[in-house]
Amino acid sequence: MQKKSFYLTTPIFYPNAKLHMGHAYTTTLSDCIVRYHREVLSDKTYFLTGSDENTQKMVDAARKAGQEPLVFLDDIVANFAKLFGNLDISYDQFIRTTDQKKHWPGAQLLWKKLVEAGDIYKKEYEGLYCVGHEAFVTEKDLVDGKCPDHGTEPILLKEENYFFRLSKYTGEIKKRIESDELKIVPVSRKSEILALLEEGLQDVSFSRPRRADWPQGLGVPVPGDDSQVMYVWCDALANYITALGYGRDDALYEEFWPADVHVIGKDILRFHAAIWPGMLLSAGVPLPQSLLVHGFITSGGKKMSKSLGNVIDPEELLAEYDTDAVRYFLLRHVSPFEDGDITREAFKDAYNANLANGLGNLASRIMQLAQTHLEKGAEPETPEAFPAEYADAFKSFEVHHAADLVWSRIQSLDQKITETAPFKLVKTDAEAGKKIIFELTQELHMIALMLAPFMPETSKKIVAAVKENKKPENLFARKD
Ligand code: MSP
Repeated sequence: MQKKSFYLTTPIFYPNAKLHMGHAYTTTLSDCIVRYHREVLSDKTYFLTGSDENTQKMVDAARKAGQEPLVFLDDIVANFAKLFGNLDISYDQFIRTTDQKKHWPGAQLLWKKLVEAGDIYKKEYEGLYCVGHEAFVTEKDLVDGKCPDHGTEPILLKEENYFFRLSKYTGEIKKRIESDELKIVPVSRKSEILALLEEGLQDVSFSRPRRADWPQGLGVPVPGDDSQVMYVWCDALANYITALGYGRDDALYEEFWPADVHVIGKDILRFHAAIWPGMLLSAGVPLPQSLLVHGFITSGGKKMSKSLGNVIDPEELLAEYDTDAVRYFLLRHVSPFEDGDITREAFKDAYNANLANGLGNLASRIMQLAQTHLEKGAEPETPEAFPAEYADAFKSFEVHHAADLVWSRIQSLDQKITETAPFKLVKTDAEAGKKIIFELTQELHMIALMLAPFMPETSKKIVAAVKENKKPENLFARKD
């Protein structure tokens, strides 16, 4: 049977500072969904992530660090890869928007398509620009003259720019979103964007004059006008197709576009649900099928910040706990649809209750019994189909519910051991006792398979233990 293809993307990250817990969340959530498709459904998957490099804030950060921007970028991007490695993120490609071979040809081809459609025009523009957002803002976005998200004053820019005729596509974008051809999950985000579309979209400034302090190699040149570089969001959004070879080598593009899901945070909905579909409609490229819009990670109910002292650094957490423990917490204890809170206390409690004393304890009790009383590990059965509720949860991106289902099985299995007391039964009725122990191993095996998208290493260890009829190595040891 032809395998289904499944293409998922993360946002591409700004490399002006190291990644934080929110970024770790987006990427882990994405990885879990891809692994479900790859490992549970056996779909043919493609998983893209990357970095959004052609930005003023990166240049500012590099200068502040006393480094050349392109050198600074290489260091930061190496750190991204390290964090993703430590989180066991199974991406197929990491696209960088300074990549002149992989990214620029597609970004420029897309631009040319917009020109051919008559959707690019030149205009003098004056406005307030927030460097943090890399976007023009209006007075009403400001609080006391400052951007409330970044706490900085916007700068006044007066430039001659190319504009993209986004206004032309308001109606069509609205139609696609209303009909779920471009599905926005959760539905509250769909309503939010439909309300914005109701007001009508405005044309967007799509290029900037090349700045004197930008080195060559930064900023995608506007085709036919080297004095201008593409507006960063225009170039960044294009990554979802350039990485597949749009404009250079179409094999992956043919196989995987349109994307099944773009995973994004709530702050970048407008770019993905208005500007991106507008660009694709103008260029005659099919739209992605869905956007999964998640909330923000907070700590103790507040945005993490150095001054509040509530920052939880993903690398620090990973130095203390297993990768799978961090993944577990993010995937089960944070809902993808709302803001989610992380504190060290909550993390520790969940770790002790559900991993060390929950899953870890269950697996070692069952496998201790099996090792003692069963002759040999029977080849574990791989199910034809996974429970419908589990599949439904993934289908609607409720990964935390899919994880809850696994833990309710863990609980039932614990209960089954208490009720059947196989360690006693095996002494009075060996056959009956062994039968129950065997059943326990089969059910544990199912739990391990269901865990694969969440905790890949733990899943593998339990599967191997069942196969070899051996107690697994210490599953959740704290690294001290
Ligand atoms: N470069 C753009 C995305 C371009 S995609 C074509 C960008 N980068 S970012 O580094 O600022 O953010 C990357 C992702 O992290 C976004 O989806 C954003 O929503 C998410 N998060 C940033 N802070 C977050 C939290 N505190 N919590 C959860 N996710 C958050 O935006």
